[in-house]
Amino acid sequence: MTPNDKPEAAPQKRMWGGRFAEDTDKLVEAFNASIDVDQKMALQDIQGSIAHATMLAEQQILAQDEAAQIIDGLESIRQDILAGRFEWKVELEDVHMNIERALTERIGAVGGKLHTARSRNDQVATDFRLWLREATNDLIELLKTARAVFVDLAETHLGVIMPGYTHLQVAQPILFSHHMLAYYEMFTRDQERFDDSLKRTNVSPLGAGALAGTGFPIDRHRSAELLHFSHAARNSLDAVSDRDFALEFLANASITMAHLSRLSEELILWSSQEFGFVTLPDSHTTGSSIMPQKKNPDVSELIRGKTGRVYGNLMSLLTVMKGLPLAYNKDMQEDKEGVFDSAETLTVSLRLTASMLPKITVHAERAKHAAGRAFSNATDLADYLARKGLPFREAHEVTGKLVTLCLQEGKDLQDLPLNQMQAVSDLIDEDVYAALALEQVVSARSSYGGTAQAQVEAQIAEARAALAG
Ligand code: ARG
Repeated sequence: MTPNDKPEAAPQKRMWGGRFAEDTDKLVEAFNASIDVDQKMALQDIQGSIAHATMLAEQQILAQDEAAQIIDGLESIRQDILAGRFEWKVELEDVHMNIERALTERIGAVGGKLHTARSRNDQVATDFRLWLREATNDLIELLKTARAVFVDLAETHLGVIMPGYTHLQVAQPILFSHHMLAYYEMFTRDQERFDDSLKRTNVSPLGAGALAGTGFPIDRHRSAELLHFSHAARNSLDAVSDRDFALEFLANASITMAHLSRLSEELILWSSQEFGFVTLPDSHTTGSSIMPQKKNPDVSELIRGKTGRVYGNLMSLLTVMKGLPLAYNKDMQEDKEGVFDSAETLTVSLRLTASMLPKITVHAERAKHAAGRAFSNATDLADYLARKGLPFREAHEVTGKLVTLCLQEGKDLQDLPLNQMQAVSDLIDEDVYAALALEQVVSARSSYGGTAQAQVEAQIAEARAALAG
């Protein structure tokens, strides 16, 4: 039997099967299919199709009753999907063709009119943008919640002094609240980045067709409006080949994960026996199968670890896109899995962080003790000498000598008797001890954005206003 002898009457199971004589190889079918991944966009696909059908009817490209039948059919499919009784078929390749085939099975040949003036290329880009718009909005809400958690912590533990580090060596004492507000700033920037990328996500590719537009008198502005997009993409080629919005999302997610990972690392350190600044809640830690005493910070470790896959998703899509000629290429089907994965990973990481942090116990005495060690007030001694007129470089040198003396004698700077200090610099007086006291060291740093309590309180007030506004 030659290809031409094939029984023409048999219904084509493939929606693009018209010109094909031979069946698709099974492995090719599985390789080509994206239904496992893109069925996540089923509701967006229906939403997009309803808008498209509505516009087609308004433009009299479809008859009113045809559009009504299509929309009814799509609604019934939506109910089945929501109820979990819709059957996805791998031989129908992707979410778009699964739904379109189901529509035609339900309402007959008129279902085939839905794809008028549309291609899967603009359809998939529309669905993906609708999905990502929702995911981005959800993440923005979660970031807002996380930001509020940091402000709450800053307020609850106001006055707690801890060591500030550089190179993970004790540097200068800071307020625990100041440290929490640093994270508030990081997550505020993250939220702003998502707010911003949302503007470029919220653009409608629908009606761009396969790549060049369509000869039907469609109204792309109307379908954009029906889907609450801010406007229709101006260039049809760009509309179907652009995945910048997905890349931006992945980049934003990566930066946010970097912040969550740094926070996780600090919680892991702080809850270790060596630091002992915080105790993590039982609800967010786990035990060991062999060591009965253990309480492990698994949640923080997993957030830190999963940051790797979120970075990977960004690298993966950047690489997919880099060599593609315009417009659509099948390579782009690889765009969704990483985005879905990053969105899910970031969502759960933010949720867990926001639920764990309010339950941590802060060990103020222990943190304060650590803050007062390792010459964390050495800068203040140098500043003291500089205030008495010594050039700061010389003050630095003098203080360094006193630190060496302390190291030899196993003392802290504030424990040196005055005569020993004066032997190194006659600028030093009795008032040096007040300058070296831990509370004074913190409250001295009253420059804008500094760690003095008045500055931190001002930052809390500003953050509260920003969160309320
Ligand atoms: N499943 C495809 C994707 O996710 C839909 C678009 C297919 N377009 C095409 N010309 N084969 O990219």
